[in-house]
Amino acid sequence: MDLIEGISDNQVVAVLDIGWGDSGKGKISDYLASLEDGSGKRLFSAVYRPNGGPNTGHTVYHKGEKVVFHLIPSAALVPGLECIIGRMVSFDPVVFSSELENVKRFNPDPNIEIDGSAHVIMPWHIAVDRLREIVGSGSIGTTGKGVGPCMETRCSRKGFVTVDMLADSKTLENMVEEAVLRFEPEIIDLMRRLTVISEGYNDGALNYLATVNMGNDKTLKDFFRGDGRIDINAVLEFYTAHGTSLSKYILGDLLPTIRSTLEEGERILVEGTQGALLDISYGTYPYVTAGLVTRPGLEHDAGIPIDLGINVTKAYATRVGRGPFPTEILDSDLANRLREAGGEYGATTGRPRRVGWLDVVALDHALFLNHGAWGKRIVAVTKLDVLGGFKPRIYNDYKVDGSETDIFCYDEISRATGGSYIEFDEIEDVRGLSRFSELPRNASAYIDAIESNARADVILIGTGQGRHSVIIS
Ligand code: IMP
Repeated sequence: MDLIEGISDNQVVAVLDIGWGDSGKGKISDYLASLEDGSGKRLFSAVYRPNGGPNTGHTVYHKGEKVVFHLIPSAALVPGLECIIGRMVSFDPVVFSSELENVKRFNPDPNIEIDGSAHVIMPWHIAVDRLREIVGSGSIGTTGKGVGPCMETRCSRKGFVTVDMLADSKTLENMVEEAVLRFEPEIIDLMRRLTVISEGYNDGALNYLATVNMGNDKTLKDFFRGDGRIDINAVLEFYTAHGTSLSKYILGDLLPTIRSTLEEGERILVEGTQGALLDISYGTYPYVTAGLVTRPGLEHDAGIPIDLGINVTKAYATRVGRGPFPTEILDSDLANRLREAGGEYGATTGRPRRVGWLDVVALDHALFLNHGAWGKRIVAVTKLDVLGGFKPRIYNDYKVDGSETDIFCYDEISRATGGSYIEFDEIEDVRGLSRFSELPRNASAYIDAIESNARADVILIGTGQGRHSVIIS
């Protein structure tokens, strides 16, 4: 398929991760956003981030610099594009503000619009997320950015949304008091527990909160009193100040704007977040994120159907945080070598990522979730260059309780290990290649095997960090 010709007017194209996140979709989205149609006009007029939050890290290399996006669509470096942050994004004004400063270094006047009903991550969400991970039961290795608790508040229908940051102080105070009633008891309890396992109340829990930077010379500790209670005045002052400084970007309901963009015949690029295997319904629950990240979930959160889904996978597999990973490389020397070659450290938390080989069972599951049994499976394979010098494997099934299976099954996945696999000859140096015909033999055989085993059409291959290190069909 010719990618550019395959995208017609008023289409919605989405970039979706089909693994456990971190597939390099930021680069793909940045690349697609920079494309022009036959008449020299940009292919897309808007880039839309419907969901996710600061737990996401999309990395783009621009003019030799690494730029990490969490909330702003990663195509924001392309001048003139409308960048939409949708209502299902868990919005952290602190993260947004620092990201905005970074974006402005390259694109001084980005056109960013934030949906007024995106829920705001408040200090208690971050505190609870982190404290639960340390002293609560059943840590899942969250990013500690408060996304899960923010979604809990949303479902309780007592949420605090971006336009509320612009409200008068009395309204805001009532809302904060309401929120405090819900989270304060749990925070006090968790802080007590943390104190018991550390060296005393003030030296333990509060000092831990002081390690979480909130920008503007504040830390998370500044929003709590010594006994763990929330300092309402500090919260009000901080969030109204953010509301004032961001008021230019916080708009009302953005769906009518999105609709008229499409009705005018323009195309929209939708950026998915995380990856299908972290979906709260169809991922490896409970080791998942707090939202919907498959294609149907993304359509739901975006409020618009997707015409073309580009499914992104790395040329190998990674996972950050806890949870099943059947094709994880257990040989620590080999794993370290691959981790270092690919720079596999979390873009959000800096945590070393677990690394493994491609898992066709999981890919097939994700592609089924995104496209059903017979849908066209269009795939982008990133970081093929990282495999240079490695003899990669592709796993075709799992071993579960001594039997082989090629089905990704929720109640078995925690017991699954890699089963039969194909091992490839050493992948050549493909850095910077830009044509399919240039791919050397082993690299080409590897891509062919992904296509045949995952029944996929590989239309794009990443061959290096920069926007133009890409092979496109
Ligand atoms: P949370 O989304 O911070 O609640 O974390 C839940 C799980 O999702 C953890 O295993 C995280 O490591 C994982 N996770 C969340 N966002 C991302 C991402 O953008 N990339 C990779 N893993 C993620």
